[in-house]
Amino acid sequence: MASKSGRLWGGRFSSDLSDIALVFSESTAADGRMVAEDIWGSQAHAIMLAQCGIISEVDLREILKWLEKAREAWDDGSFELRPELEDVHMNVETYLRQGAGPEFGGRLHTARSRNDQVITDCKLHLRVRLLDIRDRVADLQEALLERAAGHEETVMPGYTHTQHAQPVSLAFWLTSYVALLARDQERLADAYRRINTSPLGAAALAGTSFPTDRKLSARLLGFAGLQEHALDCVGSRDYIAEAIGALAILMANLSKLAEEFVVWSSWEYGMLEMDDAYASGSSIMPQKKNPCIAELTRGKVGIVFGRLMQILTMMKGLPTGYNRDLQEDKPPLWDALDTVELTLTAMAAMVRTVTFNTERMRAMVGQNFACATELANYLVRERGLPFRTCHEIVGSLVGVLVREGKTLDDHQRVQEVLREHGEELSLDEIASVVDPQLCLRQQRSVGSTGPAEVRRMQRSLASSVARARQDTAKARDAVKAAREHTARIVKHVLSGKPLAKAGL
Ligand code: ARG
Repeated sequence: MASKSGRLWGGRFSSDLSDIALVFSESTAADGRMVAEDIWGSQAHAIMLAQCGIISEVDLREILKWLEKAREAWDDGSFELRPELEDVHMNVETYLRQGAGPEFGGRLHTARSRNDQVITDCKLHLRVRLLDIRDRVADLQEALLERAAGHEETVMPGYTHTQHAQPVSLAFWLTSYVALLARDQERLADAYRRINTSPLGAAALAGTSFPTDRKLSARLLGFAGLQEHALDCVGSRDYIAEAIGALAILMANLSKLAEEFVVWSSWEYGMLEMDDAYASGSSIMPQKKNPCIAELTRGKVGIVFGRLMQILTMMKGLPTGYNRDLQEDKPPLWDALDTVELTLTAMAAMVRTVTFNTERMRAMVGQNFACATELANYLVRERGLPFRTCHEIVGSLVGVLVREGKTLDDHQRVQEVLREHGEELSLDEIASVVDPQLCLRQQRSVGSTGPAEVRRMQRSLASSVARARQDTAKARDAVKAAREHTARIVKHVLSGKPLAKAGL
């Protein structure tokens, strides 16, 4: 017997949940994202029960009929989650019981529990969101690759310690982020692999005495396999921590890109300019153009780091089995997913439209000794001196030039000082060594900024992005095929045909 308000666990209770206890404990707001998943999970469970002879085909038909109605009603907006029923599971089951009557509706919950149900729903939802996010990462990677194309010989200062270090190409800088994001792709793919296993049928914690077929329900839901151990299933949320962890690392990576966009668009650097559509003005200072998308990316990192800490703290020290604390897993997960997806979309648009001031980049790279390392390398090669000796000679040359307010472009002075160190170089030699453009071309090691290497990496990074796209498309197809397979069986059963002929 349900309680007065319709709660399905009311049997042993003599009073209803107090208003405050209900407000405190109901989860319909967060659960609203998992209604379609809850219905799909219930269809798969019911089909499995009938196939295993645990419920009859008459029961199955009635259950599937009302689950279908619930699905349609959810789609057209006429089925809304009622907070007084606590969560999505109770809402869907109540809809079913009210339609099919308790004789039929009451049989669906055989050999399952809300404990395995909720993680099934969550995994079904999360896996699709992870695919969406991987596609948004691929969008950003493609935007970076598009912008890099043709800039393999465009020089700019490369930095260490935020000080000019050596000349690099614009394409080299941009593709460094594509390479970084390729590892985010891998982390998300790896998290997906562990998420894509079925906990359904673990029941409350101990499994069940009914002769269920967990592999069948897993297959109907498109899971690649089982999350086997029942007690582990119901009490573990490491897969959520792992997903948010991967998202947190991704956001940390995006914040680096954002930071460079903020700083390099400043007047002092002037290396790039945001498109007007991705910048905003000041309410008081008419001249301002603020890089708000990049700044907000930097700021939103805090949301995702915070969500990670929230989920880890929620998990810490929990005893085995389901504990109600675990209900607090979904709000941080949804928030992290939403934040990351939005950030990636905005960042990709910003990257696509930013203007690079390549003249300014070229001017800057010549002003601050970025070719000093290459000059030392030249002396090593031409004079056969140890690198440390050349480092010392060029170091003292730079010291002299700094004191005199000169740069390496002052070839005459460079020649004089080198001569004092016993190294005679022609003016032509000096000019070609300290030219940032030529310096860039000299780089040849694997993974270097040398144009040939950058072109090679652009090709291999582009194919890694294409592979990520294929990977997500394949995973999406598998999910879609499973959903359609379940839908076909539902249709078959509802048309009155025997389950044995459904092609399970
Ligand atoms: N709303 C719950 C959650 O999100 C569903 C599982 C409830 N299980 C229970 N025994 N009360 O975790």
